[in-house]
Amino acid sequence: MKALVLAGGSGTRLRPFTYSMPKQLIPIANTPVLVHVLESVRALGVTEVGVVIGDRGPEIEAVLGDGLRFGVRITYIPQDAPRGLAHTVAIARPFLAEDDFVMYLGDNMLPDGVVPIAEEFSRHRPAAQVVVHKVADPSAFGVAELGTEGEVLRLVEKPLEPRSDLALIGVYFFTPAVHEAVAAITPSARGELEITDAVQWLLDSGAEVRASRYDGYWKDTGRVEDVLECNSHLLEGLSRRVEGRVDAGSVLVGQVVVEQGARIVRSRIEGPAVIGSGTVVENSHVGPHTSIGRNCLVRDSRLERSIALDESSVTGVRELRDSLIGRAASVGTTGRGTGHHCLVVGDHTRVEVAA
Ligand code: G1P
Repeated sequence: MKALVLAGGSGTRLRPFTYSMPKQLIPIANTPVLVHVLESVRALGVTEVGVVIGDRGPEIEAVLGDGLRFGVRITYIPQDAPRGLAHTVAIARPFLAEDDFVMYLGDNMLPDGVVPIAEEFSRHRPAAQVVVHKVADPSAFGVAELGTEGEVLRLVEKPLEPRSDLALIGVYFFTPAVHEAVAAITPSARGELEITDAVQWLLDSGAEVRASRYDGYWKDTGRVEDVLECNSHLLEGLSRRVEGRVDAGSVLVGQVVVEQGARIVRSRIEGPAVIGSGTVVENSHVGPHTSIGRNCLVRDSRLERSIALDESSVTGVRELRDSLIGRAASVGTTGRGTGHHCLVVGDHTRVEVAA
């Protein structure tokens, strides 16, 4: 089996981050979403991975390289514009050849893994096997309607009136039968070739389509709140590892990772939390549920349930919560008693100060 990992798309809901980095490289517990995805694919025993990239391709290639570091071999497949998930299958045809494959959206996190679902697929080899998960807002997703025996009755992309609460969650298993379906469908109302429509086409043509429920933790990391939530969840699974330097005036509580070369001075780190290599935390309180990237500076601050990306700094800020701070961004104070805020805010940025 091969894998097709999708890492194109524009990521408008994650602006301003996606002005300067592809959404699939946003770090969760200090590891890019896309690396978590590759690890999940590798856990299936799959080593041949096609990664579909858009105009942010070079940054993705710079991080993943040839994939060997992650135990896979990557073939990059450029897509000229986001023309839909089924379109990526069509352009990946030379890579996929006549092999079965798992298609995995590069911004979807299923940290509990899909190994049992892959095994079920290999046992039965239906034309398509989709993965579904109960959600509160099905109309935002592809929705599967199942019969009493769990058989797939119908699949609809973002229905206005969903007939079930089972969403398609970004992982699909296919035999080469899908290629005929992809070639047969036409663009949807949003102008894209929908994989949901291709699977529905298979159903209509009498092919076997199965659905498996994934009851583990799932997150489409499309919005800032999803990224923070997913970060909190993944941090919960950390085990304590302290490789950096922690001075006698500091306290580490619970599951805390201090990477090599990080320095904790007169501070309290409350797990779950991770402090990246080369970062200095001084006279501060960090955590819980906080990831600080590499080469950051946190001084005289209190930071909770937040993510700071590499090379950013937070200085003199007493209460920062639910925040996502971009690469090399700085959050600081104007000085004692000045009584005003001073902001240099880029496009589509969101700033909320205490009332
Ligand atoms: C895509 C699929 C949709 C699926 C979702 C999962 O939606 O079209 O069927 O439920 O991914 O994240 P999109 O993210 O393109 O809106």
